[in-house]
Amino acid sequence: MIPLQPPRRLIDVQIDDETVRVPEGATILDACRAAGKDVPTLCHGDTLTPKNACRVCVVEVEGARTLAPACSRKAEAGMKVGTGSERARHSRKVVLELLGSSVDLSTTPRAAEWTAEYGADPARFGADAATVEQPAKVDNDLYVRDYSKCILCYKCVDACGEQWQNTFAIGVAGRGFDGTISTEFDAPLTDSACVYCGNCVEVCPTGALSFKTEFDMRAEGTWDESRQSETTTVCSYCGVGCNLTLHVQDNKIVKVTSPHDNPVTKGNLCVKGRFGYGYV
Ligand code: SF4
Ligand code: SF4
Ligand code: FES
Repeated sequence: MIPLQPPRRLIDVQIDDETVRVPEGATILDACRAAGKDVPTLCHGDTLTPKNACRVCVVEVEGARTLAPACSRKAEAGMKVGTGSERARHSRKVVLELLGSSVDLSTTPRAAEWTAEYGADPARFGADAATVEQPAKVDNDLYVRDYSKCILCYKCVDACGEQWQNTFAIGVAGRGFDGTISTEFDAPLTDSACVYCGNCVEVCPTGALSFKTEFDMRAEGTWDESRQSETTTVCSYCGVGCNLTLHVQDNKIVKVTSPHDNPVTKGNLCVKGRFGYGYV
């Protein structure tokens, strides 16, 4: 089903040497993707208002003094964008070096590929570089918070808070270098307002938030996405009819996600749809 949208005027934008046509209101990132350009993103979420936290998506806009974050800057008619200029590539390289030196990016999709592509050397700050290393928080049977992998993109906070769930179980604690994602008073999730919808897990770009099943299987070395199949079906618990994507390995459901392009749920689920698959 394709939901009807109000008609939008189309504008022409020049991406590198190619002119693409995108609807008014589209971002530079949308235009780059329409032109087939692979601009890296980390904090951008396709179901969330851009936060501009990571700046790995920067591009050069002709006439602009500073580099523009492609994920949030709106495309304008006649805009000329350079996606791979020396300055943009250097900026992305430094972002990847800073993140790579302080955060465990081992489960961030494509991080290793981008690190190689941009020639980033996270080790160049030396062995004493500050890191966010800490033990993973395993305090419930459904999902794990491993903040050694957290890039402070705030997606989980937005998903849990005013953008989707309105539960406000997790937020930012501390300021500046001491900023972390936390529950109130750093309590275990079981003592927090969390309702275990897992919508934070759905949007986390690094694997800092993960299903307990995935966390355990990674620890024992059995997690293997190449052996997993994905089947999208309809949740059987209530009449809303949310879409569930079941990730199955060795004939067992290992995690549940939800399609972001669903016009009703936009990737969000409740605890039953997300974690209540034991009966299957
Ligand atoms: S599972 Fe839901 S309620 Fe709990 S922290 Fe995540 S988004 Fe918030
Ligand atoms: S836990 Fe994940 S979603 Fe939340 S701020 Fe950290 S990296 Fe972003
Ligand atoms: S992806 Fe654009 S600022 Fe993070």
